[in-house]
Amino acid sequence: MWHKIGEALLRTGETIEVRRVRTPDRCHEHEIRSLLPRYNKLWMWHLDLALSGKLDDLEARFYIGVLNKRVVGNVSTWEHGPIGIVAHLFTARSYRKKGVCAALMTTMIQDFRNRRGKVLIGGFRPASYPIAKSLGFKSVSDNSEVMHLKLDPYFEEDNFRAERVLCRDLMWKDWPGVSLLFGVRDGWRLRSVKHKVFGPHDYEDYFLQDMWEHQQGTCKSKVLVTERGSLVGHAVLTSKCSQRGSVWLLDFFIHPVSVSRAGILLDALTIPLGKTECYVEECCRGKLDALLASGFREEARKQLKFDRRTLITILMKD
Ligand SMILES: CC(C)(COP(=O)(O)OP(=O)(O)OC[C@H]1O[C@@H](n2cnc3c(N)ncnc32)[C@H](O)[C@@H]1OP(=O)(O)O)[C@@H](O)C(=O)NCCC(=O)NCCS
Repeated sequence: MWHKIGEALLRTGETIEVRRVRTPDRCHEHEIRSLLPRYNKLWMWHLDLALSGKLDDLEARFYIGVLNKRVVGNVSTWEHGPIGIVAHLFTARSYRKKGVCAALMTTMIQDFRNRRGKVLIGGFRPASYPIAKSLGFKSVSDNSEVMHLKLDPYFEEDNFRAERVLCRDLMWKDWPGVSLLFGVRDGWRLRSVKHKVFGPHDYEDYFLQDMWEHQQGTCKSKVLVTERGSLVGHAVLTSKCSQRGSVWLLDFFIHPVSVSRAGILLDALTIPLGKTECYVEECCRGKLDALLASGFREEARKQLKFDRRTLITILMKD
C-alpha cells in the first residue's frame, strides 16, 4: 500500500515526488530492493521481513523519492506507537547532494508528527549526521552518532512513569521502545556486557542480533511493560562458551524509575540449567540486591574491560 504524500524541489530545479510505502507493497518492493545496498546478513534478514510485512506489530514504512519514474532515494522508519527508529537513509549515487535525503527526512518527520509520533531515534553516519542535526536531532551523549528527535519534550517523563508492570517475551514491536530505554541519560551505566553498551546509546543492531540468536536457540529476551504499554525494562540471556565451559550471560537494564520492579523481570526469566553470570557496577545496589534475592551469589570483583575505571561485581547462579 502506498500514498503520494508530498513533492519537493531539489537544488537542480527538478521536483521529486515523495511516496510513503507501507509493506507489503508489490508495486515498490522490487525497486526498494534494487535501490538499497546489500547490507550485512542481519539487516538483509530484517529487510526481507520488513518488505513482506512479517514483523508482528512493528510498523515498517519506506519513504521514497521518485524522479522521472525512478526511485532515487529512501528513508525508512520502524515504529510502534509514538516511538520510531529512522534507518536506511540512502540516495542513488548520481542523485546525491541535490537535497533528496533532506526532502525525504523532512516529509517523513511531518508525517510521523501527523500520526502523533513523539520521538524518533537514529544512529547516523558522518554523511547523514549534518542532515539529522539540521532537522533537530540531538545526540544522546557528547558527539554520539545516536540521536533523538523529541517532538514532545514531556513524552519521556510520561512514558517512563512508574506504574504496575508485567513481563513478557520480546517481540519485534519492542525495538523502538528498547532503543528509547537504552538512550536514557540516568540510571545504570552498564547496560549490556554482551554488546558493550555503557551509558546512553541505542539498541539498533543489537536488537537484530538478539532476535537472530533467539531463532537459533542461543538467546532469550524478556521485557517489562507498563499497563499503558510503555517498555521500562529489558533482559537478555545469551549462551556463551568460555574456557570454563558453557555459561549463560544475563544482561538486564531497567529504567531508574522502575528499578524496584527488577524482581518481576528476574522471576519471569527461566534461568537455564548450568551456570549463569551477571555483571553489576559496584554503585548499583538495587540491581545487586535484586540478583541476590533471586538466588545469585557474589563470585568475584574486577574492573570492567571496556571501561577500566568501573568496578564490577560478578554474580553467578547455578
Ligand atoms: C547520506 C546520504 C543519504 C545523503 O543523501 P543526499 O541526498 O546526498 O543528501 P542531501 O543532498 O539531502 O544533503 C543534505 C545535507 O547533507 C549534506 N551532505 C550530504 N552528503 C554528505 C556527505 N557525504 N558528507 C557531509 N555532508 C553531506 C549536504 O551537503 C546537505 O547539507 P547542506 O544543505 O548544508 O548543503 C547519501 O550520501 C548516501 O546514500 N550515502 C550512502 C549511505 C549512507 O551513508 N547512509 C547514511 C546511513 S545513516
